[in-house]
Amino acid sequence: MANDVVELILADHRRFEDLFRDLRNRDNDREKLLAELAALLVAHAEAEESEVYPALKRFKNVDDHEVEHGAEEHAEGHQALLALMEVGDTSSEEWEDKLEELVEALNHHVDEEERTILNDARDSVPEQRKAELGANFVRVRQERLDADCGSVDHVRQLVKATEHRVD
Ligand SMILES: [Fe+2]
Ligand SMILES: [Fe+2]
Repeated sequence: MANDVVELILADHRRFEDLFRDLRNRDNDREKLLAELAALLVAHAEAEESEVYPALKRFKNVDDHEVEHGAEEHAEGHQALLALMEVGDTSSEEWEDKLEELVEALNHHVDEEERTILNDARDSVPEQRKAELGANFVRVRQERLDADCGSVDHVRQLVKATEHRVD
């Protein structure tokens, strides 16, 4: 189903992985790719947190702790994203180190989200509701993209606002 929130989230996760692969290649325009990744990551996480996570928590078979933990991992991801964006020189060793840290944090989160929250959603959320949530997810994700949510200023604000969530 084209609108199924689980499928839409999975499609973004696969896009992140493609971007990680492209970012590793130093022949590519890393600055442009990083800007694309930043916007998608932030829009995806914000749409999950505002439209999907709270709705899923209402289903008793969806583990609330996993949902809260997911939001903590978004905060960690944004922190790692900001650290990479702040390096500047995309050909430096430091840039590659920060890329590695970002990829590690995000792969961990995506893996866990798919195994816990999304599997729970597959099992317990009716098709109709998954389609509604998918439509909400797409709408908010697009609003966030239109608001330039991947700009370094916005990522900085996000990191500041969610610092308390990160150990
Ligand atoms: Fe996700
Ligand atoms: Fe997530």
